[in-house]
Amino acid sequence: MEIIKAVIPAAGFGTRFLPYTKSIPKEMLPLLDRPAIQSIVEEGIASGIKNFIMVTNKDKESIINHFDSNPLLETFLREKNQQNLTEDLEKINRAADFTFVRQSEPLGLGHAILKAQHSIGKEHFAIMLPDDILISKIPGLSQLIRVARQEKASIIAVQEVPQECVSSYGIIKIKKQITPNLFKVAEIIEKPKQKDAPSNLAVVGRYVLSNKIFSSLEEIAPYAINELQLTDAITHMLKNNEKVFAFKIQGLRYDIGTPVGWLKATLGMALQSPEYGPYMRRFLADLDSPESFVYNKAKNIHHII
Ligand code: UTP
Repeated sequence: MEIIKAVIPAAGFGTRFLPYTKSIPKEMLPLLDRPAIQSIVEEGIASGIKNFIMVTNKDKESIINHFDSNPLLETFLREKNQQNLTEDLEKINRAADFTFVRQSEPLGLGHAILKAQHSIGKEHFAIMLPDDILISKIPGLSQLIRVARQEKASIIAVQEVPQECVSSYGIIKIKKQITPNLFKVAEIIEKPKQKDAPSNLAVVGRYVLSNKIFSSLEEIAPYAINELQLTDAITHMLKNNEKVFAFKIQGLRYDIGTPVGWLKATLGMALQSPEYGPYMRRFLADLDSPESFVYNKAKNIHHII
């Protein structure tokens, strides 16, 4: 089973991150030295993806430009012998193709995925939500692809979350546990109350789905209230006896869709980085001391850097 296409929906309003997201896509938030969406694409490429279908809108041109060539900049860097500054982007462009489709109104994640239908053939394909950043030895998506190939079925990434957080997630109801990390799914319940949650296994933003998802989305679309939900289409597939599994994905996950989540990701990733880690540790140690520059305006901030 070949899984070489990934849909990245990026046409939402990003209301949890306003006012930043009013004119700048949240997918372009920096994670250290690169926009978040570049990290997602790098995870995809490391998982064998060769074609990314990005769902965007008129306000997301910067995403399209980021993955396009920029001859003026390339000449400038070549003359200064600094091509290394964009070499990761060049690697991306050698490894994969990009297709951009428009969702002119944010009518839901399911509606965004449906926009990619004509770029996907009969094969299984991946969905990567750019809000969810996974830090893991084995790239998050490649963990799912391995299981999808093994089971020849649709697979949803899940992680355990604390009971008090279940109402923020889609939570799966288990039909059968296959291995410690693999489950047959009975149902997905979107944002259940704590007392109604059938498990603490929350859906995180990586999926490998059969192309049957598109007919399910089309069938449920006329009944959608406000937004067309991907979860409802997966439930529809389950009702049609499609096999859907959940796999407990290994790794650290950051939800960068909110300022606090993005700050945690930035700090956590900086502390783990050989390049930025030493600076950040010194900075944090200084913050912790009563002599910190934060409380001592006369101190020169550069001394701690
Ligand atoms: P989210 O609900 O997390 O993103 O959707 P959002 O709607 O942009 O943000 P908030 O909730 O208002 O803060 C998950 C992903 O699906 C995309 C979003 O861009 C995000 O990457 N999405 C969502 C679409 O592409 N279209 C939609 O209609 C809805």
